Amino acid sequence: MSEMLSDIVAVPDCPGVSRWQAVVPGGSVAGSAALRPIIPFWHDLLPAPTPVTRPGASELTLYVEPEWRRRGIGSRLLATVRAYTAEPRLFADVAAGAPGEAFCLRHGFRHAGSTRLDLLTYCDVHWAWLGEMVDAEPSGYRLIHRTGILPAMLRVEELRHSPGRTGDAVLTAAEADGDLAAYAVAVVGALSPNRARQYGPAVLPNHRGRRLGVWVNAALIQRLREVHPHVDEIETLTDEGDTHLLAVREHFGFRPSDRTRRYELALP
Ligand SMILES: CC(C)(COP(=O)(O)OP(=O)(O)OC[C@H]1O[C@@H](n2cnc3c(N)ncnc32)[C@H](O)[C@@H]1OP(=O)(O)O)[C@@H](O)C(=O)NCCC(=O)NCCS
Repeated sequence: MSEMLSDIVAVPDCPGVSRWQAVVPGGSVAGSAALRPIIPFWHDLLPAPTPVTRPGASELTLYVEPEWRRRGIGSRLLATVRAYTAEPRLFADVAAGAPGEAFCLRHGFRHAGSTRLDLLTYCDVHWAWLGEMVDAEPSGYRLIHRTGILPAMLRVEELRHSPGRTGDAVLTAAEADGDLAAYAVAVVGALSPNRARQYGPAVLPNHRGRRLGVWVNAALIQRLREVHPHVDEIETLTDEGDTHLLAVREHFGFRPSDRTRRYELALP
């Protein structure tokens, strides 16, 4: 079948996310692409950010229905994204060994690391245990919670200083004398209505060794349940080499759900 049979159309969506669909004759949607800014989770606070967390990178998701594959639709969606974006780099997370890997390599992406997707389902959470963890406040620190809109969350500090907004991002932070010491962020609704994606926890260098990461993570999970009661599972993506963070995930009952390989496309 000719690749010219599909129309690529832009789909209005939530602010900050660009989406396209490949529509085939008869009106069926054969595939879709989405581009969203990668949350620059570390770059404003921690030194030596990884390439993925430097500003100027977008996360690409691309999907073609199995019965429409190998007809050039994925390539056309990617060409549309490339023509649209002004960012210098795109990142895509692809299931290891899946067709997406051959597709990425065919289109000039390079392998940029491996990540583990972990899932915490609320039926595995012991809420009383979590509450005790939150109540065990380390001396000299206090918790704050903020909500905001994902595209507005260009810097964690901006979100921390803009209380009272509504939005899909929840920030829980530990402060010491008004300064940020540790934080974790969850974003709801981007993947499915009942699933949130958690970023972090991250602890600033001067505050490490006090279990602040575990503390803010416990408080974030608790807060998320209060603010977004329809959410009943949380996913996280963790670098396979980050044994410390993987141990924190397991501490909370996150279970490995998938392994993905990250691919990077540098744009001219
Ligand atoms: C990856 C995906 C989007 C490709 O969509 P598609 O419409 O089949 O892609 P195209 O037809 O444009 O393929 C372009 C080229 O990629 C390579 N390719 C794609 N699928 C492949 C496969 N299963 N095996 C080997 N090579 C493959 C081929 O070189 C192909 O060219 P060819 O058909 O002339 O040999 C689709 O398989 C998919 O939705 N997979 C699940 C989600 C995913 O992995 N997304 C990747 C995010 S980047």
